[in-house]
Amino acid sequence: MGRNVNMRDFRIMNRIIKAIAACGLSLAVVSGPAAASGAKVENAEDYAFSFEGPFGTFDRAQLRRGWQVYKEVCAACHSLKYIRFRNLAEPGGPQLDKKTVKAIAAEYSVKDGPNDEGEMFERPARPSDAIPSPFPNEQAAKAANNGAAPPDLSLITKAREGWWYPWYLSPILKLVNGNGGPEYVRSLLMGYKPAPHGEEKEGLHYNPYFKGHWIAMPPPLSDDAVEYADGTRATVEQMATDVAAFLAWAAMPKMEERKRVGLMVLLYMGLFALLMLLVKTVIWHRVKH
Ligand code: HEC
Repeated sequence: MGRNVNMRDFRIMNRIIKAIAACGLSLAVVSGPAAASGAKVENAEDYAFSFEGPFGTFDRAQLRRGWQVYKEVCAACHSLKYIRFRNLAEPGGPQLDKKTVKAIAAEYSVKDGPNDEGEMFERPARPSDAIPSPFPNEQAAKAANNGAAPPDLSLITKAREGWWYPWYLSPILKLVNGNGGPEYVRSLLMGYKPAPHGEEKEGLHYNPYFKGHWIAMPPPLSDDAVEYADGTRATVEQMATDVAAFLAWAAMPKMEERKRVGLMVLLYMGLFALLMLLVKTVIWHRVKH
């Protein structure tokens, strides 16, 4: 009797598993060709950034170089509105000294007001100001860039992915290897090429890492576009890597603190579990069982 029931349960289980597998298979069949249509976006080149993994931290010198690239090149078109100048001096970031940050802020001009006459006015930025957009508004940004407004870069490494996993592996692999956002930025900046068959499009540039392959951003980097304060040779690859790391920091300025606290919590819980085990052994060791 008991054996029969088990057999029936087993058969039902078997049917459920087959149904799930069939669903998965048909999804793969349906979604496969859909994903393959259109210009294929190239996966970003994987790169071992220092801030990856549970113990990874930012490379201070790299963040400073990345900031220099952003400021001297990208800031001509892109804002960084969720970063305030003072963040550049805070622990876990480029850690510029406060005086430098004050001087940097003063180079920018921001809109403030209204004053007592009811007028808006321009004033030099202060460390507490957000890094402003080089354009007064979205329309001006579009007009100056062939109709495509340069996006704010504060969260770009989170908003973009460098590679795609099959949907059923995605949650685990993303945890282990990330979404490839910083790698995407790095590859994009290094990825300009002549278009296949010499094709050209008015105001657009060919880049296989960009969705659709034609981007309104002209190649922003060329060798020695900046002269690094720390003497590092400014190749396109070096600048692309540094600015990608800097933008990763901009998207998660508290990453180092977060990891530190997380590890402390794990350590604490481990010690606490040991302590409890000890208490349990002491209390129970005389009881016969
Ligand atoms: C001359 C202006 C200009 C400069 C300088 C510039 N960009 Fe851009 N950028 C653009 C424009 C315009 C777009 C929008 C492109 C589009 O949507 O076709 C863009 C888009 C981007 C994107 C988003 C691409 C996407 O997936 O949507 C990233 C990332 C980016 N730029 C990074 C940078 C970095 C980093 C620098 C500095 C090294 C830089 N840009 C310098 C104009 C510029």
